[in-house]
Amino acid sequence: MFGPEDFLEATNVSRETLDKFKRYAELLAEWQAKINLIGPATAGDVWGRHFFDSAQLLPLVLKSTPGRGPRTWLDMGSGAGFPGLVLSLLGENSVFLAEPSAKKCAFLRQVIRETGARAKILQAKVKDIETFPVDIVTSRALAPIADLLEWGAPYLREGGEFWLLKGSSAEEELTLVKKNWNMTTEIFPSKTDNGGKILRFSNIRMAGAA
Ligand SMILES: C[S@@+](CC[C@H](N)C(=O)[O-])C[C@H]1O[C@@H](n2cnc3c(N)ncnc32)[C@H](O)[C@@H]1O
Repeated sequence: MFGPEDFLEATNVSRETLDKFKRYAELLAEWQAKINLIGPATAGDVWGRHFFDSAQLLPLVLKSTPGRGPRTWLDMGSGAGFPGLVLSLLGENSVFLAEPSAKKCAFLRQVIRETGARAKILQAKVKDIETFPVDIVTSRALAPIADLLEWGAPYLREGGEFWLLKGSSAEEELTLVKKNWNMTTEIFPSKTDNGGKILRFSNIRMAGAA
């Protein structure tokens, strides 16, 4: 089983950061006993299926956008913080977590308080939030790509990108959006989810838009 030491080796975080993830894992276990924060089948593999699954995004983003300065992120449907809160704990200083569930937000608030993460919670559905400019929109396990584009694209500033953690249906969903959206697409294999894909969309334009 992938544990804290594997996470340390895979991400090269400091011991101090690792301790914050350990507290996050403890809180997740405590809350999971009372409310469903993550799929029960994955509760025994938090370090691999949730922490590292989320963390794998950051080196890909940094490698793909060299020389770009600090980023503002919008994580749509963060749930228990994946991937947005993980990215924040890894040192990203401007991460917004859009999550409508009051219980999940209460959990996120406690993790943020106890770890000092810089993430900010927006307790609402993405479409109900007044848009503000972000560099990267992320999402995992929220909705089909067509919906994600519709909800997230209004937030993107010029040059902004989508980075999505998707399951094996990614390619099928992609063919459905080609009619309505023009964009450059890159697909990376997930390191944690067999068949899972990480999608990068850049140069995003609605088809027919000037
Ligand atoms: C299946 S969970 C995934 C949570 C997390 N991203 C993960 O991968 O573990 C989907 C989350 O999206 C939230 N959600 C549903 N509709 C939403 C919307 N329109 N905008 C933002 N969040 C939404 C739900 O409350 C839920 O926490």
